[in-house]
Amino acid sequence: MTGTQDEDQFRDYSSRESMQDADPVAEFYRLNHKYQTLAFARAKIDQYGALSLARMGVWEACELLNTLVDDSDPDTSLSQIQHLLQTAEAIRQAGHPRWFQLTGLIHDLGKILCLQGEPQWAVVGDTFPLGCEFSADIVYADFFAANPDQMNPDYQGQLGIYAPECGLDKVTMSFGHDEYLYRVTRAYLPLEAQYIIRYHSFYSAHSAGAYDYLMNAQDRELFQWVKLFQPFDLYSKGHAPPDIEQLKDYYQTLIAEFFPATIQW
Ligand SMILES: [Fe+2]
Ligand SMILES: [Fe+2]
Repeated sequence: MTGTQDEDQFRDYSSRESMQDADPVAEFYRLNHKYQTLAFARAKIDQYGALSLARMGVWEACELLNTLVDDSDPDTSLSQIQHLLQTAEAIRQAGHPRWFQLTGLIHDLGKILCLQGEPQWAVVGDTFPLGCEFSADIVYADFFAANPDQMNPDYQGQLGIYAPECGLDKVTMSFGHDEYLYRVTRAYLPLEAQYIIRYHSFYSAHSAGAYDYLMNAQDRELFQWVKLFQPFDLYSKGHAPPDIEQLKDYYQTLIAEFFPATIQW
């Protein structure tokens, strides 16, 4: 894979820490780490997990999302639909199966919540478990000092409210586009695809192996797919923009193999 950006430069937040005041990524994580509490995430799952926002097709959602600019992403100036197509194309060119290509195409569609008036800190950025100690491996971990869950004695220690190796399905993650899209699409996709969608922003686990003590054997097995997906999401961003009109037919056919014409959002 050849990119126009050196891979080491992707997700480089460290050079920005001395200029937090002027840095939208730092400001984004200051808000995200302050307001993403267990109570907040549970309330948002109740609200959006009902899938009562809209009924629309998957391609229609791609086009709807295309009006959004993601403050949390330091790397890309591509539009949302270009990022989705580029991720899917990179997976396709690597010879991966059709469900995996489709996962690349749709993985960020949960970001339509930003268009519902949700602040970006509630929709995008890295995700992490709630109800237990925040890992030092999470980006901008110092900002968790302002999170009210730090004051709740039940949420302290590695396990907090959870049993050892309870499995991620029992863990409430910080709310965002991952959890929402998982709930929108889970009835239509293989388990591996559901897993990629649900945990693709759980970077402390992908990159640093954090929170292994909450994972069970199935998590560890399926996390291999999340790790396989991660470079396609990140490193395809340096490539030339895809031709949307040229690719539209291929991906609309692919969508129709897995989804009905419209689904609940
Ligand atoms: Fe994402
Ligand atoms: Fe993405």
